[in-house]
Amino acid sequence: MTQNNPKNIVFIAKSIDGFIAGKNGELDWLNAIPNPDNDDMGFYGLMDEIDAIVMGKTTFETVVGFGGDWPYSKHVFVLSRSLKEIPANLKDKATLLYGAEDEILEKIHSKGYFALYIDGGSVVQNFLKADLIDELRISTIPIVLGDGVPLFAAMPKSLKFTHTKTEVFLDEIVQSHYKSVK
Ligand SMILES: NC(=O)c1ccc[n+]([C@@H]2O[C@H](COP(=O)([O-])OP(=O)(O)OC[C@H]3O[C@@H](n4cnc5c(N)ncnc54)[C@H](OP(=O)(O)O)[C@@H]3O)[C@@H](O)[C@H]2O)c1
Repeated sequence: MTQNNPKNIVFIAKSIDGFIAGKNGELDWLNAIPNPDNDDMGFYGLMDEIDAIVMGKTTFETVVGFGGDWPYSKHVFVLSRSLKEIPANLKDKATLLYGAEDEILEKIHSKGYFALYIDGGSVVQNFLKADLIDELRISTIPIVLGDGVPLFAAMPKSLKFTHTKTEVFLDEIVQSHYKSVK
């Protein structure tokens, strides 16, 4: 990716009613549809497109809690004011940052990363509020969760997007891509 083409992409799964996790952070419903051939539903394609990942502390701690091999091939910027340091075994894979979203982007761009995967709950909401999201890739899982962590929150203004494609995975999961219209 080039300096002339900074880009912030959200790639996230939600329930029909718009939650990205249960109210206690439950994620089991994300993998409830049988996936015998381990379809990655565009995840590895996204990894090839991006230079780095930006995620909130909760998401980072959730991924760390999964244990096993670190799942990301690209550098991760973890946003947190409360986390004091990245665990020793991940220090070459992740960097801690905090601040306003535009300042965070400036810091990341200055390190040579321009195409970014923005992940998390409040992190995605805050980047949207600042109108800093260029693409939304949203997979809808066929469940009405009822309660949980919402993907979207109230915004100071509407943002226009245009639909670029929709694919159905495993006959059940509808993934739609939208590009920001500035
Ligand atoms: N369905 C999916 O595809 C999907 C994807 C990702 C995550 N999830 C799940 O969704 C839930 C997300 O929860 P969440 O909204 O709490 O998560 P989050 O966005 O991952 O993390 C929120 C935390 O990030 C930090 N933060 C956010 N913006 C910051 C900034 N500008 N500067 C410094 N720190 C900043 C704050 O940490 P401090 O309080 O430390 O400052 C904040 O509490 C989790 O359960 C996660 O596992 C689901």
